[in-house]
Amino acid sequence: MRNFLTVAALAALAGSTAAQTFTECNPLNTTCPADPALGTEHTWWFNSSTKLDTTIWNMSTGSLTYSNDAAEFTISKVNESTLLQSNFYIFFGVVESWVKMAKGAGVVSSVVLESDDLDEIDWEWVGYNTSAVQSNFFGKGNTTSYDRGGTHYVANADTEWHNYTTWWDSDKLQWWIDGKMVRELLYTDATALGGKNYPQTPCQVKISNWPAGLESAAHGTIEWAGGLVNYADGPFTMSVQRLRVQDFHTGKEYSYGDKSGDFKSIKVTGGNSTVLDELNKPPPKSLAEKWADLGNGAHIGIYAGAAAAGVLAIVALALVCLRQRRKGRLEHALDDSRYATERTEMQNFQNDWKQSEWKHGGYSKVSN
Ligand SMILES: *[C@@H]1O[C@H](CO)[C@@H](O)[C@H](O)[C@H]1NC(C)=O
Ligand SMILES: *[C@@H]1O[C@H](CO)[C@@H](O)[C@H](O)[C@H]1NC(C)=O
Ligand SMILES: *[C@@H]1O[C@H](CO)[C@@H](O)[C@H](O)[C@H]1NC(C)=O
Ligand SMILES: *[C@@H]1O[C@H](CO)[C@@H](O)[C@H](O)[C@H]1NC(C)=O
Ligand SMILES: *[C@@H]1O[C@H](CO)[C@@H](O)[C@H](O)[C@H]1NC(C)=O
Ligand SMILES: *[C@@H]1O[C@H](CO)[C@@H](O)[C@H](O)[C@H]1NC(C)=O
Ligand SMILES: *[C@@H]1O[C@H](CO)[C@@H](O)[C@H](O)[C@H]1NC(C)=O
Ligand SMILES: *[C@@H]1O[C@H](CO)[C@@H](O)[C@H](O)[C@H]1NC(C)=O
Repeated sequence: MRNFLTVAALAALAGSTAAQTFTECNPLNTTCPADPALGTEHTWWFNSSTKLDTTIWNMSTGSLTYSNDAAEFTISKVNESTLLQSNFYIFFGVVESWVKMAKGAGVVSSVVLESDDLDEIDWEWVGYNTSAVQSNFFGKGNTTSYDRGGTHYVANADTEWHNYTTWWDSDKLQWWIDGKMVRELLYTDATALGGKNYPQTPCQVKISNWPAGLESAAHGTIEWAGGLVNYADGPFTMSVQRLRVQDFHTGKEYSYGDKSGDFKSIKVTGGNSTVLDELNKPPPKSLAEKWADLGNGAHIGIYAGAAAAGVLAIVALALVCLRQRRKGRLEHALDDSRYATERTEMQNFQNDWKQSEWKHGGYSKVSN
């Protein structure tokens, strides 16, 4: 088995592929800035009607495309790779991902939790086998032994959505597929070196489709990946429909109290996380909502402005104009500072309105 850390080595070799997983600051060696917390639970759906919130997610390598029911991580060219990472960290919690793996020898789809001191929890789909997913974990970047991996049967992992859930607390770590627990690791297990190599520090969520079978990769890695990537078989696409992430702690950020990497040393700073504030932010108003906000007087004015010229319309307009006079010009209503954030949309709206006004002979604007 190869862990996500290997990607860093591969990426370094692969030149154009950006480094995927070197930790920017390892708290075991030095003092690092605090990690922004998730501090809540949220489900992200990915599809053509959604937009990636870049205050929460960072597409740090490659690019994403969207289908009508998923985000697509595609590699089609040599040295191409993809990585979406959360700007937030969870300090124990749940990650539920709905994934269709990329099929193809040498290609690896992955959903990974990784901390600044390189604790790691993996789901990895190795492209040559569409009936399996691998589970793995690492503690404090210790890759000296690759005996921790598990392989689990899953039907048609490339064409069917499955629910891959990681449940992670300080005393146990579980991997679940479609509601069945397929693996459990206890803090006290020997493979976790009695807790020493048990993942236990705040982790980011990292989703990636990457080429493990590269000429430049270590022999063992190519073998694990099922051979070299044959780009003629591409493009290779991993799809992610949705992701539910729950942080077992609430708070604003997490910091390392010392250089032990022990969960007991992690300090939780209270308050709302940036992500929580972002999620609670009212959605930008749609044109329809702004329209509704304007009230009847303005509606009639605009309808009338757009209506075919005619006596009735003119009469209606005259009435409307009178009604509008008190409130100020219609443009002012539209320009209300509450809506100032969406200038472009409003501008189009106003242009359309002015145009139809113009087309239909219109009326002179009320001035006051
Ligand atoms: C891919 O990366 C390797 C290693 O850096 C490099 O030798 C090779 O030219 C690259 N291939 C392409 C097509 O960019
Ligand atoms: C950080 O410390 C670990 C051991 O605690 C060491 O293996 C690693 O090389 C160090 N990393 C850096 C960047 O100094
Ligand atoms: C996104 O990731 C890239 C590459 O790791 C990094 O340079 C950049 O600072 C990140 N952006 C944010 C907003 O974190
Ligand atoms: C697309 O995403 C929205 C949430 O933004 C979700 O409600 C909807 O069910 C998704 N559609 C599909 C087909 O997955
Ligand atoms: C790394 O893991 C190996 C195998 O589990 C173990 O023998 C070794 O002591 C570990 N090294 C450290 C520094 O924890
Ligand atoms: C794929 O993995 C499953 C589950 O471990 C295994 O039964 C099957 O033999 C594997 N298929 C291939 C082609 O390696
Ligand atoms: C996915 O699996 C987890 C673990 O079994 C479960 O708690 C969760 O409810 C499942 N999600 C859905 C939408 O069924
Ligand atoms: C924190 O978030 C909650 C909603 O989860 C909100 O009611 C509260 O006003 C927020 N507090 C601050 C200080 O923003």
